[in-house]
Amino acid sequence: MSRFNESRLKNSDKAILSVIGLGYVGLVTAAGFGLKGHKVIGVDVDEEKIEGLCNGLSPLYEEGLDEAIKNMDFTATKDYQAVLDTNITFLCVNTPSHSDGSMNLTYLKKATEQLAEALRQKNASHLVVVRSTVTPGTTEEVIVPILRDSGDPEICVNPEFLREGKALHDFMNPSRIVIGDGDGKSGDLLQELYRDFGCPILRTDLNTAEMIKYASNAFLATKISFINEIGNICKKMGIDVYEVTRGMGHDERIGNQFLNAGIGFGGSCLPKDLKGIVARAREVGYEPRILNEVLGLNEEQPLKMVELLKKHIPLLKGKVIGVLGLAFKPDTDDIRDSKAIAIVEGLLEEGAQVRAYDPKAMPNFKKYYPHIDYKSPEEVLKSDATLILTEWDEFKNLDYTNRVIIDGRRILNARKARIYEGICW
Ligand code: UGA
Repeated sequence: MSRFNESRLKNSDKAILSVIGLGYVGLVTAAGFGLKGHKVIGVDVDEEKIEGLCNGLSPLYEEGLDEAIKNMDFTATKDYQAVLDTNITFLCVNTPSHSDGSMNLTYLKKATEQLAEALRQKNASHLVVVRSTVTPGTTEEVIVPILRDSGDPEICVNPEFLREGKALHDFMNPSRIVIGDGDGKSGDLLQELYRDFGCPILRTDLNTAEMIKYASNAFLATKISFINEIGNICKKMGIDVYEVTRGMGHDERIGNQFLNAGIGFGGSCLPKDLKGIVARAREVGYEPRILNEVLGLNEEQPLKMVELLKKHIPLLKGKVIGVLGLAFKPDTDDIRDSKAIAIVEGLLEEGAQVRAYDPKAMPNFKKYYPHIDYKSPEEVLKSDATLILTEWDEFKNLDYTNRVIIDGRRILNARKARIYEGICW
């Protein structure tokens, strides 16, 4: 059993938690526990963010987040001393990548050191939960040694499986909760905290919990590159890959999710995590083959859009090419690792004039591509040809008649175009 006084969680509705790092994972974690009635103290280095949060303003858009933050018992501060008022601290600091794909742990180490310094003043026990995505071995090799001399807190790993745009929903309705610890009991209190989430709770060691996160994302990425490859073969043979997946999905061993062929996977997680686990595998002396190919295919896939376009307009120089969709997926303004970037680059290299529209992501894209034209969807469709790169709902109802459309995301209505090409169908 845990060393903690469990009655604190059992008899009272409210635990007091702290969350270090108020980015996407930290805020959703804070808001999720807030919705469950717990009090949360957030710690971050960004003063502007803290001020906004103290006034009920979320620094990022995520369905339901604003409302949850406004209505919960939440405070944000720069001061690590605040963790002393809590029994559990979630480390949610971001872990960017080095150019070889390995993790840059600078921020996480710094945050852990500051946490360790604060915890040195605490006499009572404390649980530190590593929720940042870290490659297997990181908690044991990096986090545990930093925290060891700070009152010896209990430590566990609790990876998140949240989809951007649906993160709060996913937090409240998890498919599973994974808790890894080094002694088989440090995770007991966390298990208590998650007791009414109505899903399986898996207890593992630290390294396994970290690996579950990477293996899950690597598997999802593999599914996408797999179906894109089948789709590329289908394209050459005049077969519609979506009909093929419809036929596959009824087999429960295969399932029908994450088999939408298209221009590849983007975002801040799948590409980064895949590169992260490849780099980690190399560190331990294994050269991954499937995972390398998954990445390679994903880099080539978007360029097929430019090839298909050139089938209809061989010389792109001086032509106006429309782009519908810049976000890495619908319902977000996020363009990190969006495949639209590679495609716009390809078009510009060919000398095309790009005219783009996205319901949410134009301001972000403009920061990197201020010189392309940003227009309404109707104006974009007047281009010499238009590429569809994100499956936004509003693209389903546009008037595509008389247009030349290259579809990377399967917008059925676009088939009404004068010339229509699907990337894998
Ligand atoms: C992904 C995982 O789905 C989450 O489970 C995980 O928790 C998260 O990463 C993370 O590690 O934090 P997310 O990056 O929000 O979530 O995006 P997804 O919805 O997975 O989509 C990723 C990319 O794959 C998008 O570009 C999307 O268009 C593409 N995709 C997805 C396809 O091309 N085909 C599909 O069938 C599904």
